[in-house]
Amino acid sequence: MSNKRIGILTSGGDCPGLNAVLRGASRAAEKLGWELLGFKDGFEGLLPPGDFLLLDRSVTSGIMHLGGTILGTVNKGHFVTRLDARGLPSIPGEVLTHVRKTFDSLKMHALIVVGGDGSLATALQLHEAGFRVVGVPKTIDNDLEATSRTFGFDSAVACVADALDRLHTTATSHKRVMVLEVMGRHAGWIALHGGLAGGADVILIPEIPFAFEKIADEVLRRESEGAKSTMVVVAEGASPRDGHQRRHHTASGEKRLGGIAEIVGRELGERTGKEVRTCVLGHLQRGGAPTTLDRILGTGFGVKAVQLVLDGKFGSMVSYQNDELRNVPISHAVHKLRRVSPTCQMVETARAVDISFGD
Ligand code: F6P
Repeated sequence: MSNKRIGILTSGGDCPGLNAVLRGASRAAEKLGWELLGFKDGFEGLLPPGDFLLLDRSVTSGIMHLGGTILGTVNKGHFVTRLDARGLPSIPGEVLTHVRKTFDSLKMHALIVVGGDGSLATALQLHEAGFRVVGVPKTIDNDLEATSRTFGFDSAVACVADALDRLHTTATSHKRVMVLEVMGRHAGWIALHGGLAGGADVILIPEIPFAFEKIADEVLRRESEGAKSTMVVVAEGASPRDGHQRRHHTASGEKRLGGIAEIVGRELGERTGKEVRTCVLGHLQRGGAPTTLDRILGTGFGVKAVQLVLDGKFGSMVSYQNDELRNVPISHAVHKLRRVSPTCQMVETARAVDISFGD
């Protein structure tokens, strides 16, 4: 096997399991006698002269259990795509020239991009511009088409379940209604799985618009049956039937999903006369150590990505389907969200254990 040098970077929002991917890829590359360069701060590290470190055993040993990414990551930067004359997203031409310089000067054979929807779209454009690129899907939201699971999701779900366990004891002591807002963007996977695992009574997801009176009725029904508390999980992207998703403006002028728990809490308080408290779980869901499942999945994704480079499967990404690691074209995964089907088995299961979706 000829010596090769390949690169890897982590881009977009971080998630637990990224370091397991880096470690897995590093070990797999080492076995082939290849060098793995880890580029810092997402795609930005590709700008000349290249900001990277050699991901050998000395660097990747003992990192699997660490949250975040040892390479750093960014959501913005020079690679943010702009729409071209045809209305298609494209990386600015001068940025592609910079990347070419870095590839050439480092004699880099290929690049592994670990990222979510936006970063994989950038990876696809690099591939279309002639670079050898392989993708690894990543997001706590679990909402990428073409892979049934992403690492980071299980850790986020564990965090939601833990939060519900904690909120349950205080809610029950005070006979209160608790509303917990969780992440997930436009998909309800985190709310659904976290709510199920944490014993929620009501789960509100973007895919099933809710009615305030239905949730209020549920709270009162439970109270009449002797329940001491009601636990409501609401996904940040959920919205009432006759309303819209809640967004707030950041200091930089960006609009971000969030704030729906406050509204649900206020409406429930007014409609039931009960004491309601709200909690926004936020980035706790993204931080901390990955669960065992995410460590295993991350390791597998890293190893498989190197295998795809070895097999010359450029323009493809690792995909997890039917308990197997496979590969699919990156184009199958980008700009397409995988959302919860309101009639799926998991929703049916939730309904079977008396969980209300407020519909
Ligand atoms: O996509 C992952 C995610 O954590 C979403 O669930 C959430 O809406 C968003 O990222 C938060 O992004 P940021 O870290 O930029 O605030």
